[in-house]
Amino acid sequence: MTSSAIPTPSGMNRLWYGGDYNPEQWPREVWDDDMRLMSRAGVTVATIGVFSWARLEPRDGEYDLAWLDDLMDLLHATGVRADLATATASPPKWLIDKHPEILPVTQDGTVLSHGGRQHYRPASAAYREHATRLVRVLAERYGDHPALEAWHVNNEYGCHVSRDYSDDAAAGFRAWLAERYGTIHALNAAWGTAFWSQLYTSFDQVDPPRVTPAGTNPTQTLDFDRYSSDELRACMRAEIAVLREVTPEIPVTTNFMGFFKGLDYWTWAGDLDFVTDDHYPDPEDPEAYVLAAMTRDLMRGLGGGRPWILMEQATSAVNWRDFNAPKPAGMHRLLSLQSVARGADGIMQFQWRQSKAGSEKFHSAMVPHAGEDSRVYRETEALGAELASLSHLRGTRSEARVAMVVDWPSWWALEQDSMPARISYVEQLLRWYRALHRRGVLVDMVPAAGDLDGYDMVVVASALALSDDAVTALAAVPARGGQLVVGYQTAVLDEHAHARLGGYLGDLQQALGVWIEELWPLRSGALAGVAAGPVSEWGEHVRVRDAEVLATFSGGDLDGLPAITRRADGDGAGWYVATAPEALGELVERVLDDAGVVWSSLPAGVEAVERGGHRFVLNHSSVPVEVEVAGRSYGVPSRDAVIDQL
Ligand code: GAL
Repeated sequence: MTSSAIPTPSGMNRLWYGGDYNPEQWPREVWDDDMRLMSRAGVTVATIGVFSWARLEPRDGEYDLAWLDDLMDLLHATGVRADLATATASPPKWLIDKHPEILPVTQDGTVLSHGGRQHYRPASAAYREHATRLVRVLAERYGDHPALEAWHVNNEYGCHVSRDYSDDAAAGFRAWLAERYGTIHALNAAWGTAFWSQLYTSFDQVDPPRVTPAGTNPTQTLDFDRYSSDELRACMRAEIAVLREVTPEIPVTTNFMGFFKGLDYWTWAGDLDFVTDDHYPDPEDPEAYVLAAMTRDLMRGLGGGRPWILMEQATSAVNWRDFNAPKPAGMHRLLSLQSVARGADGIMQFQWRQSKAGSEKFHSAMVPHAGEDSRVYRETEALGAELASLSHLRGTRSEARVAMVVDWPSWWALEQDSMPARISYVEQLLRWYRALHRRGVLVDMVPAAGDLDGYDMVVVASALALSDDAVTALAAVPARGGQLVVGYQTAVLDEHAHARLGGYLGDLQQALGVWIEELWPLRSGALAGVAAGPVSEWGEHVRVRDAEVLATFSGGDLDGLPAITRRADGDGAGWYVATAPEALGELVERVLDDAGVVWSSLPAGVEAVERGGHRFVLNHSSVPVEVEVAGRSYGVPSRDAVIDQL
C-alpha cells in the first residue's frame, strides 16, 4: 500500500465532501444559512462558478467579480475549500449574439440555440478565445486566494454536444486528418474509398460524416469520433495551459462521466492532476451498483491507480430520466462508501441547495426544497460525519491482480451501423465484470496498449478495432504466465476498421490457438461443457488449431462446434469465448483459480472491497445477508455496510 493523495495546496487532510454550490441563484442572506448548514454537515469543499459566465462577465470584457470575491471569502471563513470552475460551460447571450457561429450543429444540420447550456462548437476560435480570456481573469484574481483548492475546468465536456458537424468542425477535421495521414492517398487507403466511389483527391473535399442516404463510411465515422474527442480535449488543454501558466501550484481537474462513449478518456486523463467523475445510478435499477462499481474502477484506472474524486452524484432523485425514483434510505450512503472503497478521496454531489427555478428544480440536492428538517439533509449530515471518520484512507491505493481492457475506438466501431448484430459495448464489459464482482475480485480497468505486466489475469471482453501493436501486446500475456481471456468481437478489425483477413484475431490466433471461419450472431442457444446452459447474442464457427475445447455449442446451427477454448502456454493460457454464456461465472472461477486469485462467493447485491487495511462489505439488496469473505463472517443488514478493519 503506497500513498498518493490528491494534490492539495492547503495541506487538506480530509476527504472532499460537498457539492456544486450555485449561490448566485439565491439572495445573499441564504448564503449565510448555507455556511451554517455546510458547517453542520462537515462540508470540506464546494464546487463554485460552474455556470457563472454570464454573471462574471455580463458584457464583453466587463467583469463583475465582487460577488465571487465575497463568496470565496465566505467559504474561507467557514473552512470550506473552493473547487473553482472556469465557468466556460455555458457561453453568455452577448457572446452568441456577437459570434452566432459559436453555436453547434447536429448531424442533420440543425443549429442548436442559446437557452440551455453547452451551446458551443468545440472547434470555434471565438469560443476558445473568449473562454481562455475568462480563465485568465479568474486565475489572476483567485490564484492566491486562500480558499482555492483546485481548478474545475469547464464542466462535463461533451455531455450534450460531443459531436459537432459545423463548418468549423469540418475545417478542424480536415486539419486533423492531414496530420494523421499526411497524404490524401493514405487517407483513401485507410478509409477504403474504393468502395462506393468515395475517392477523394484533396483534404479540402473531406467532410464530417453528416447524414447520408446509406451506410456512411465506417472509417470516416471512426476517425470523426477520434477527432471529436481530440477537439474537445484541445478546448480543455487551452484552458489548462492558462491555468498552469498563471497558477502552476493549483491542481486542475475536469469532471468525467464514467463510461461516456463520446470521449476517449484514456487520452484525456494525463492532462489532469487528478481524475473526477459524475455518476448517477438509477435507483430503480437493482443492478445499477454493478455498473457503478465498474465505473469507479475505471476512474481508478484512468488515474493510474491513484485516488480520484466522485465529483457529482444525486442525494436522491434526478430530473432527467422518464421516471425519476428517489433513492431509498441508505442507498446514497452505500454508493458513496462504494466509491471510497474503490479509491475515491472525495464524495461530492450535485448540488448543495436544490434550485427554486430552472430546469433542475426537481433534481435532489444536499439541502432539499423542504429545508433542513428532512430525511435528505439528515443523511447529508450523517454522511459528512462518516466520511470524516474515514479521513485516514486518503491517499491509500489498492492493488488488483485482474485487469480488464477498455478501448474507446473499439466501442465506437462496435456500435456502428452495418455490423453483424447490434451489440452494446458496455453490456459486454458488464457481463464479465459482474461475474468478477460477484466473486469479490478487484478489477483494474486498463487501456488496450497499457502495461499489463503486473496482472495475473487480463480480460478482453471485446476489443473490436485494435492496432497490430495492441494485439501483439495482448498476445504476449499467456507466454509470460498470465491468463488472457478473450471474448468475441475482439481484433476482428484493425484500427482503420478493416477486417483482419484469414480468420480474424491477428497475432491472437497464435496465443489462443484458434481462428474464426465465420461470424454467427445467435439470438439464443446452448452450451455443453464448461458454463453449460443457455447462451445469447453471439456465436461463431471457431476453428481450433492448437487449443483444448472446454465447451461446444449444443443444438442449432452451430451444434458441436467449439464455443470456449483454452490454449495452455506454461503457467499461462489463452482462453477464447465465442458466445455469451449465462453461466459465465463458472468459467470465471476456473480462470481465477488458474491465475491463483483468491475469490469469494457473494450473494446477489453484495460486494466486498479492500482499501487501506479495511474491508468494505456492502449490501445493496433489500434483504439482510450473512456472508463469508476470506475466512471472516459478516452479517450485513439490508442496504447497509460493514467496514471491517483488517
Ligand atoms: C450533470 C451536470 C450538472 C447537473 C447534473 C444533474 O450532468 O454536470 O450540472 O446538470 O448533471 O444530474
